[in-house]
Amino acid sequence: MTATLTSNAILSAAHLHKTVQVGEQSLAIIKDVSIHVDAGEFVVIMGKSGSGKSTLLGLLAALDYPDSGSVTLAGQTLSALDEDALAVIRQREMGFVFQAFHLLPTLSVCENIAFPLDIARRADPARVDALIEAVGLGHRRDSLPSQLSGGEQQRTAVARALVAQPKIVFADEPTGNLDEQNAEQVMQLLLDLRAQTGSALVVVTHDPALADMADRVITMHDGMIDGSNADEK
Ligand SMILES: Nc1ncnc2c1ncn2[C@@H]1O[C@H](COP(=O)(O)OP(=O)(O)O)[C@@H](O)[C@H]1O
Ligand SMILES: [Mg+2]
Repeated sequence: MTATLTSNAILSAAHLHKTVQVGEQSLAIIKDVSIHVDAGEFVVIMGKSGSGKSTLLGLLAALDYPDSGSVTLAGQTLSALDEDALAVIRQREMGFVFQAFHLLPTLSVCENIAFPLDIARRADPARVDALIEAVGLGHRRDSLPSQLSGGEQQRTAVARALVAQPKIVFADEPTGNLDEQNAEQVMQLLLDLRAQTGSALVVVTHDPALADMADRVITMHDGMIDGSNADEK
């Protein structure tokens, strides 16, 4: 529709399509999705299982290429970059929290949190220490992920996602494997740390309480974004 450029968008995706091959059939799982996220904005993505939320998040986070359409982060078109360039952008500009934690099993809590800074050769032990304390794991800094509870693992993952002060953090059902109390704690930490860094936050969740806290809620249905909250640009 009207093509006013909203200058505040940190991430914008235009006309994304993704098809997967299932046997002989090609199945469209993302159908013409356009979406923008403003700097510092907290966006929740909801929708039934199988509606395409994880696939969309993977495209936005440049973990996967769309068949067509483009994703732009801070003015840079990701769809045009090769794997190596994308890896650098993911390291520098993005944070990730997954439902299944995905910590590096041979690294301690401290080393996991420091990892994004270490691979970017930006070691900052003071920042790592501050984050370990912020997520309440000072007494666990040398523990391995296998020695932690689910809540402790996800708090480690939250600290890791925010340590490099990314422009945007993606979280795919970050509380899906946690009980209610741990879920609440993890989300609160995610929101608190994000308030400190000013990172935008895109969270896939089924939690209505979280949706209430979001700046904007986007609902997916059968590979599409429901009309009323579709990006009109
Ligand atoms: N690699 C794949 N091969 C075949 N089907 C897939 C693949 N990835 C996702 N799908 C299908 O695409 C749809 C959307 O999946 P997904 O994005 O995981 O949904 P959600 O996260 O909302 O549950 C589902 O029907 C799923 O089965
Ligand atoms: Mg999913």
